[in-house]
Amino acid sequence: MGMSTMGDGTRAVRAGLPEPEQYEPTLPGPVFAAHFHLSGEPVGPYTYGRETNPTWTHLERAIGELEAPGQEVETTVFASGMAAVSAVLLSQARTGDVVVLPNDGYQALPLVREQLEAYGVEVRTAPTGGDAQLELLEGAKLLWIETPSNPGLDVCDVRRLVEAAHAAGVLVAVDNTLATSLGQRPLELGADFSVASDTKGMTGHGDILLGHVSCRDPLLSAGVRRWRKVVGAIPGPMEAWLAHRSLATLQLRIDRQCTTALALAEALTARADVSGLRYPGLPTDPSYPIAVRQMRRFGSVVSFELADEQTAERFLGALRLVDDATSFGGVRSTAERRARWGGDAVPAGFIRFSVGAEDPEDLLADVARALDASVR
Ligand SMILES: Cc1ncc(COP(=O)(O)O)c(C=O)c1O
Repeated sequence: MGMSTMGDGTRAVRAGLPEPEQYEPTLPGPVFAAHFHLSGEPVGPYTYGRETNPTWTHLERAIGELEAPGQEVETTVFASGMAAVSAVLLSQARTGDVVVLPNDGYQALPLVREQLEAYGVEVRTAPTGGDAQLELLEGAKLLWIETPSNPGLDVCDVRRLVEAAHAAGVLVAVDNTLATSLGQRPLELGADFSVASDTKGMTGHGDILLGHVSCRDPLLSAGVRRWRKVVGAIPGPMEAWLAHRSLATLQLRIDRQCTTALALAEALTARADVSGLRYPGLPTDPSYPIAVRQMRRFGSVVSFELADEQTAERFLGALRLVDDATSFGGVRSTAERRARWGGDAVPAGFIRFSVGAEDPEDLLADVARALDASVR
């Protein structure tokens, strides 16, 4: 029985580990090296530290095994999610090309848009929900999808978009940050690039920044790798090693977080002081019908609205088990009033809540108490 047919937990604890070797550790320690001994012709695998590092190799293999079990994929790790996002968009798009982005994606995406436009790339945008990006594909080079979208949690039909895009000769990249590799497998849904900020659920402890790009096509992968070499947005060996170590608990963490996120969403539906509740795993959510077909887990983020800015701030201040902080996907719950950044089209009282690994009863009680305390 090959590893690829085993369960997610089994694959997570073993992902990317080398064959056992007498007197060697299970996961080799981080290799700190700017350069490697290299005589004669300068060929790999390990030459110079901006190009390759054995600690990245192990992590890249691990992520690839989780992204597309049993398939040949190439993964490139980066210093952050944005480094991975930019690597795909900026390495693929040339002057005169058309790129289709969501208009409700991660709030740094408009910064990349500005950069693309500065290089003479035409950028078209449409919302994630309703597969609205479908209308913009004609003559495009690349379609960028973010599903579920952050922070609105809308979902689009990846298979449907991929089919239309490929028929029109358009490449497709999916930002899979919110779902993680265990929640959704973009490459299996047909995408050319699966991209993620591993700062979030993939590593899950809120202590490192990291990103990755996985592709099936070696040529596309080579372009991404080349971009990393040119820009030098490389992860430190320590971060890469910590990330690999964190993957061992990925299934435990994500399962716990997703189960509690659904319980939280269900509890919030019963509250009159909460509106605009969104969670793709909630059967009454508009995202559910598509989410249930393409997602394997629905993520740790729940979004909702409170009456206004003051109520939202009182709620955040009253929480004891939840840190007021940005980011999501970590083992400690966090929440924030998303409008404070000014980059998302959300109401003043909009809360993005990231469910951690606390006991569900404790977390739900904390939220209920903080909501009661925030009402005036
Ligand atoms: C969907 C999404 N993509 C990309 C990023 C960027 O990741 P990083 O902060 O690791 O650069 C984020 C960060 O919040 C995100 O939410």
